[in-house]
Amino acid sequence: MVSKGELPLGCCVDLSRGSVRKVVIAGNWKMHMTCAEARRYIDDFLPRIQNVPSERDVVLAPPFTALSTVCTATGDSRVLISSQNVHWDDNGAFTGEISAPMLHEHGVSYTIVGHSEPRKYYSEPDEVINHRARGAQAHGLIPILCVGESNSQREENLTEQVIRRQVEQGIEGVDVTNLVIAYEPIWAIGTGKTCACEEANRICELIRRWVGSDDIIILYGGSVKPGNIDEIMAQTHINGVLVGGASLDPVGFARIANYQPLAATAI
Ligand code: PGA
Repeated sequence: MVSKGELPLGCCVDLSRGSVRKVVIAGNWKMHMTCAEARRYIDDFLPRIQNVPSERDVVLAPPFTALSTVCTATGDSRVLISSQNVHWDDNGAFTGEISAPMLHEHGVSYTIVGHSEPRKYYSEPDEVINHRARGAQAHGLIPILCVGESNSQREENLTEQVIRRQVEQGIEGVDVTNLVIAYEPIWAIGTGKTCACEEANRICELIRRWVGSDDIIILYGGSVKPGNIDEIMAQTHINGVLVGGASLDPVGFARIANYQPLAATAI
């Protein structure tokens, strides 16, 4: 069996769906976890996800410094690795950045782009995010393109307009068959406020329409936790979750990966 670090470029993960709908359960550790903490986490986590159904990709996005540790510690397990960002060039004078070939060497198969934190703290515009997504795909990484409105945009009734712009500019020139989109309302990130499931589902359905692909995998993110995952995953247009805070606890994140969807909500 080829280990994660030895996969040839361009064939890391197959997002095409067979008869069973693919689901992505991704944990974004943000700026948390030293290598020692990451090793302890993986030791605790792996036995707890052994029975997760095979159509669910369980993905961890550690900080860059822990990528190699997590890749080695997860070995040939079913855990896939994501980076938290990627640059579009292979190399160059870009202090603080990291390129897709560098990530690929560490067994990375997904990469988050356009998360609301770099959008907010470093003013990343949609065209830069689009470059990142294209650069990732050029090297076989699957971008997880994050979109979402702020609290004030929601209050001003701009939600759909903002997300549509982020989606349309983000996917320009991007192969949507090798793309995941995460709908993450900014006001729900790290606040404990989850978007009502029906509303999250409605926005995900709109995103599907704007992308123009019934098969695009759309995640919900924003205060996902063990207590709400079953209801979130019962929504017809939500194909997985991007989890921040709750992914730092291996027990809780394993419970999220082992979700049991409630009976699908009629909408
Ligand atoms: P949260 O973060 O789960 O802590 O709200 C989600 C995210 O930032 O992706």
